[in-house]
Amino acid sequence: MAKNHSSPAQRDALPTSLYGAYLRSYALDPERDRAFFDLVGDLYFSDEVQYLKRYEQHSSINRLDHVRSVTYVSYVYAKKMGLDVKAAVRGAVLHDLFYYDWHDSAMWHRPHGFLHPRFALHNARLLNPAISKKEENIIRRHMFPLTPTPPRYAEGWVVSLSDKYCATVEMLRAEVGFFGKRFAEKLAAVSAADSND
Ligand SMILES: [Fe+2]
Ligand SMILES: [Fe+2]
Repeated sequence: MAKNHSSPAQRDALPTSLYGAYLRSYALDPERDRAFFDLVGDLYFSDEVQYLKRYEQHSSINRLDHVRSVTYVSYVYAKKMGLDVKAAVRGAVLHDLFYYDWHDSAMWHRPHGFLHPRFALHNARLLNPAISKKEENIIRRHMFPLTPTPPRYAEGWVVSLSDKYCATVEMLRAEVGFFGKRFAEKLAAVSAADSND
């Protein structure tokens, strides 16, 4: 856990690139990143979301890692764009809230790309009965254009594009080994910088 001696200005500083935001999602600290966790911590730290770490998303990268990356990248860009950050992150953190291995061959969840937003939305409503219409739309439409109806809100576009970016980096990391050593080195550098704040 990073030691937090950072100033409010340092705490509020956002990563300047997409890849920087992705890396930071692996080095988040509940204290230093309080602004982020104030918006979404109740959902992120719930048993229902934490359980996602049991499911493989891309090889060694589990679904909780993926969800955290998508949520943090969405946070950074919704904030930079002056959007409804709270709706963006509370939709993002539940966008893949389903409990099965999508790699298996069972037919009931096929085609997975089409069906899982519905499963996630069903589970999201159970976890958060106060979910907003915007958050629901973010979850339901995050697979556009595979599912043909686009997100209704700008925040939904941010989450959908963040999802695609994170999934692409994860596939390159996990399946191709791309970023392998460099990813570890850069993550170590991010973590070291955080603990020296
Ligand atoms: Fe998804
Ligand atoms: Fe996703």
